[in-house]
Amino acid sequence: MRIGILGSGLMGAKLGTIWARAGHEVAFSYARSKEKLNKLARDAQGNARAGAPRDAAHDADAVLLAVHWSRVDDVLKQAGDVAGKVIVNCSLPMNADNTDLVIAHTSSGAEELAKKAPKARVVSAFNTVPSEVLFGVFESRRKASKPSLVYCGDDTKSKKIAAELIRDVGFDPVDAGPLRIARYTEPFALLVVQLAYEGEGGPELAYRFERFGRKG
Ligand SMILES: NC(=O)c1ccc[n+]([C@@H]2O[C@H](COP(=O)([O-])OP(=O)(O)OC[C@H]3O[C@@H](n4cnc5c(N)ncnc54)[C@H](OP(=O)(O)O)[C@@H]3O)[C@@H](O)[C@H]2O)c1
Repeated sequence: MRIGILGSGLMGAKLGTIWARAGHEVAFSYARSKEKLNKLARDAQGNARAGAPRDAAHDADAVLLAVHWSRVDDVLKQAGDVAGKVIVNCSLPMNADNTDLVIAHTSSGAEELAKKAPKARVVSAFNTVPSEVLFGVFESRRKASKPSLVYCGDDTKSKKIAAELIRDVGFDPVDAGPLRIARYTEPFALLVVQLAYEGEGGPELAYRFERFGRKG
């Protein structure tokens, strides 16, 4: 697939690198320096390039949105027309100091994003996982037992694409249902952060939750 990375920070840089190594064609965009994007593309050891958000989104089969909530409008403006695009959203609707969600319970960041880009096909994924574990999951992707990762969205075709991308990282994708389920997965992501950074043995607990009732 051609994948446009909108936001090449902790999440975007790691996921883009992994997808390039998994054989996808990746375009890194949206960082504060062009040099950083060029270096990411060079270091990815796969088919990767650096560009502006508009180039990254233009021909993409899927776009990863990975910016702070306060930058969503700006990056969407720079990306231009995203009608029909699959947007895999890992951005959480966090306040300025990243202590709380600014949208929860009655809506979600994913649903608000779908309103901002009404013709795009939004899937919420990867926001329940700390970026620190991504390379480790990718390196152990051939093991039989994989950590689960929940995703949700309203469009079946886009969800298939998101599930493939989740699998390529090394997770077992778990379809949590329609996009409005992000009202529950986004607060869950906050719990994951608490566990990962404040609880004992947190990182392990934070991403190795398993599907109830699954055998083996
Ligand atoms: N980090 C995690 O473990 C994690 C986990 C789950 C969900 N999330 C969510 O995922 C989203 C991304 O998180 P992150 O940790 O990857 O954030 P991040 O490291 O801060 O990355 C954001 C990217 O946006 C770029 N950026 C910020 N302001 C910009 C500007 N004015 N112009 C151009 N580029 C700009 C940054 O550039 P620079 O590279 O130059 O700084 C960076 O590449 C957030 O919504 C977060 O809540 C993060």
